[in-house]
Amino acid sequence: MDLTAAFPSPFPTDDPVLGLIGNTPMIPYPGTEVDNLFCKLETENPTRSMKDRVALGILSEALADGDYDRVVEASSGNTAGAVALVCNRMGIDCTVTCPATTSGQKIGYMRAYGATVRLCPAVDADHPDHYRATARRLAEEDGTFMIDQYRNLSNPGVHYRWTGREMWSQAGPDMTHLVCAMGTGGIMSGSARAVKEQAAEAGTTVTTVGVDATHSNISTAFYGTDPVPYDTAVEGLGKGHELPTMWFDDIDTMRDVDDDRAFDTARRSAEEHGFLIGPSAGAALAVGLDIAQDDPDARVVVVICDGGEQYFDTLFAPETDAARRENGQATNSVSADADEEAAAAE
Ligand SMILES: Cc1ncc(COP(=O)(O)O)c(C=O)c1O
Repeated sequence: MDLTAAFPSPFPTDDPVLGLIGNTPMIPYPGTEVDNLFCKLETENPTRSMKDRVALGILSEALADGDYDRVVEASSGNTAGAVALVCNRMGIDCTVTCPATTSGQKIGYMRAYGATVRLCPAVDADHPDHYRATARRLAEEDGTFMIDQYRNLSNPGVHYRWTGREMWSQAGPDMTHLVCAMGTGGIMSGSARAVKEQAAEAGTTVTTVGVDATHSNISTAFYGTDPVPYDTAVEGLGKGHELPTMWFDDIDTMRDVDDDRAFDTARRSAEEHGFLIGPSAGAALAVGLDIAQDDPDARVVVVICDGGEQYFDTLFAPETDAARRENGQATNSVSADADEEAAAAE
C-alpha cells in the first residue's frame, strides 16, 4: 500500500477552493483493536463529506454540455451543502428546497455559502408544496439545472471515475475488502465497480460490502427478502427501496447495522481514539472492525462518509440520544430523511 499516493482528479479545476476536493487521505484505523483496517477520510473535503465530489463532478459535466445560471436541488443533507459550495465558486445561483424539519446545522452550511434555502412544509410527497415538487417546478425555468442525486447516474459515475480509483491508488493491490454505507448507493456502487476492475487488472479480488440500516430496504432489495418499514436515525444511511444509483452487480454482500450500534461506534471512536466521525461512518466502521477482526490477513478499507461536527446536537448530545433510545428511532433529522425517502419513491 502507498497511502500517500496522489490521484489526478477527472474534474480538474484552477479554482483554489474546488481544488481542495478529492485526494482525501487514507489512514490506518487509529484504534488499537486491529491493525488491518484503513479509513478513507471523505471528511477532508471542504464541506466535510464525499458529496463535494458529486456536486463538482455533476456540475462540471452539466456546464460542459450547456449554459446554466441557476442550480436547484431538493435535499436535506450533505448534498445540499456541497452543491451550495460548488455553485458559489462557479458563480451560479443556487436554490435548495428542504423539508422544514431539516437540521439547523445543515441549513447553516447552505446559507453560509450563499444558497437560497426554501423551507417547504411537511406535506405528502404528491402535494404541490412538497419540497421536491417545489424544486421540480423551479427546475422548469429556463437556464436551471437540477442535480437529482437519486436518479442521476453521474452520482455513482463520479465515484467510479474518481473516488474508487483514488482508493485503489492508495490501498491496491493489497486491499481485500471495501466497506461503505449506502444511501443513494452512489459512493458504494461507483467505488465498488472501480476497485473491482482495478483488482481484476492486478490479478487480485476485492470483496465489496454495502452497509444498510436495520430498518431499511437496501439489503432486502439486494437479497430479495420482504421489505421492512423504513425508520432510521442515521442520516444518509438506508433507503426504503432500490434506486437506479445502486449498482447491485458490483456489490458482493450487504450487512445491516442498527442505530444504537452506529451511534455507539461513532461516539466511541471520538471518545477513545480522538477520531470524530458521523453515525453512517460509525455503521461502516462497525462492519469494518468485524471483518478485520475475523480475518487478520484481510486488508479492509472503510469509507468515512462525513465528520461528527454536524451531529453535536444529536449523536453527541446525551439528552437527545437518550430520548431517541427511549422513543424508538424518531428524531427531527429522521423525519427529514423519511420525507426525502418518500420523495425519492415518486
Ligand atoms: C453522512 C452520509 N453517509 C452516507 C451517505 C450515503 O452515500 P450515498 O448517497 O453515496 O450512498 C450519505 C448520503 O447522503 C451521507 O450524507
